[in-house]
Amino acid sequence: MADTLTITDNRTGKTYEVPVSDGTIRAMDLRQIKVEPDDFGLMTYDPAFLNTANCRSAITYIDGEKGVLLYRGYPIEQLAEESDYLETAYLILFGELPTALQLQQWTQQITNHTMLHENIKKFMEGFQYDAHPMGIFLSTVGALSTFYQDAKNIFDKGSRLRQTHRLIAKVPSIAAYAYRHSIGRPYIYPDNDLSFAANFLNMLFKMTEVKYQPNPVLTRALDVLFILHADHEQNCSTTTMRTIGSSHVDPYSALAGAAAALYGPLHGGANEAVLRMLNEIGSVSKVPEFIKKVKSGEGSKLMGFGHRVYKSYDPRAKVIKRIADLVFAVTGKNPLLDIALELERIALQDDYFVTRKLYPNVDFYSGLIYQAMGFPVEMFPVLFAIPRTAGWVAQWEEMLLDSEQKIARPRQIYTGPVKRDYVPRDKRS
Ligand code: CMC
Repeated sequence: MADTLTITDNRTGKTYEVPVSDGTIRAMDLRQIKVEPDDFGLMTYDPAFLNTANCRSAITYIDGEKGVLLYRGYPIEQLAEESDYLETAYLILFGELPTALQLQQWTQQITNHTMLHENIKKFMEGFQYDAHPMGIFLSTVGALSTFYQDAKNIFDKGSRLRQTHRLIAKVPSIAAYAYRHSIGRPYIYPDNDLSFAANFLNMLFKMTEVKYQPNPVLTRALDVLFILHADHEQNCSTTTMRTIGSSHVDPYSALAGAAAALYGPLHGGANEAVLRMLNEIGSVSKVPEFIKKVKSGEGSKLMGFGHRVYKSYDPRAKVIKRIADLVFAVTGKNPLLDIALELERIALQDDYFVTRKLYPNVDFYSGLIYQAMGFPVEMFPVLFAIPRTAGWVAQWEEMLLDSEQKIARPRQIYTGPVKRDYVPRDKRS
C-alpha cells in the first residue's frame, strides 16, 4: 500500500497524488491543484491551527486521548517523582538527562547568573505600585534585550547558550522583584547557597532574618510544579515564541511576547481565573447553581477545565492533586479546596462535560497550592512563566536550527471589498 493520498479535484476532474508521511500531507503539495494555470493554487483554511502541524519537534510528546505527557521520552510522572526543575530544564534544552558532573556544572552556571543588573532594578521601580506582576515580568524580560546586545547573535552557539543561562537564571529574580515591588518591600538579592526553588522563595518571602530558611516540603512542591510547567509542546505561548523568533529577533524580545501570550485567561492566566471563580462561587452549596450557569452559557466557562489537546484527565493535574495534600499538611487546608472538589465531582458525572471530554487541567488545582503557600493570585501566571522559560528557549533554538523553518507567515482568505477608487471627503455620504 502506497503512503500517498489521491485527490480528485471535481472542479476539473484532475487527479493528484501527494505523499503522506508522519500522518500528514504537506500543505504546499496542494498548491499544484488549480483550475486555471495562473490560479494561486489550493490552500488549507485552519483558524487557530486546529489541525495543522507547524513544526517537527523532538522535545515534548503528548497523547491527549490517553493523558500521556513525555519530556524527551521521559514520563512526566517519573520526572515529578525523581527529578528537580534544573535537571528537567537541562533535559528539555539539551535532549538527555545530565551526568552528575554535567548537572553540577549546569547548576553552577545558572546560579552564577541569578543577579540582575542594578539598572534593571531601577527600571522595575518605575512601575506603578499596583502594577500586575505579569505586566512587570514580561516588560522586564523584553528590556533584558537592551542589556545583553550580544543576544542578537542568534546563530552563534556560544551566544545562545549564554542567553539560555541568563534567561533560566534571571526569570525567578525578575518574578520575585515584581512581587516585592507590588507589595512595596525591598528587593532581596539571590542566595547562591540555596537551590533554584529555595532561592526563589528566599527572594519572595525573606524579611529581616539573616538567612532565609525555606520549608523543605514547600520547596519541593514548588520544584515539582516547575517540572510540570516546563514545556507543553505547541501551545499558544510556545507558538508565539517560535513565531516571533522566526523573524530572527533576540530571544529576550521573543520571550517577552511568549510571556504576553501566557498572560491571557485562556492560557497561563487560567489559574488566576480559577481562584477568582472559586471565590465567586463562595460555598459548596452554590456549586450546582454555578454549573447550571456554565452549561447554559449564561455564566463564564468552568475555568481550569478543558484542553485543546487533552481529552482525558490532564496528567499534570493528577500529580498536582497529590502535591496539594502535602502542601496543605504544612500550610493548613485551603478553604476553597472543598468547592474545587465538589466542582470536579459534579462536572465529571455531568453529561455536558462528559460528552465534550472536559476534565480538570493543570490550572485547576495549582492555584489552590500557590495560594496556600502565600502567593497572591496576580503572581500565578508569573509562577507559570518561570519554568516555561526552559520550554520556550528549547523550542526557539529547535526552530532556529531547523532548516525547513522560515519566517512564520500564514496566508489568509481575503473577505474585504474588491478594488475601488478613493472617494474625496466632500463626496462621502
Ligand atoms: N467550561 C465549559 N465549557 C467548555 C469549557 C469549559 N472550561 N471548555 C470548553 N468548553 C466547551 C465549549 O464551549 C465547546 O462547547 P460547544 O461544542 O457546545 O460549543 C466545547 O467545550 C469545545 O470547546 P472549545 O472552546 O472548542 O475548545 P478549545 O480547544 O478551543 O479550548 C480551552 C480549549 C482550554 C481554551 C477551553 O477548554 C477553555 O477555555 N478552558 C477554560 C480555560 C482554561 O482552563 N485554560 C487553561 C488551559 S491548560 C493550561 C494552558 O495551556 O495554559
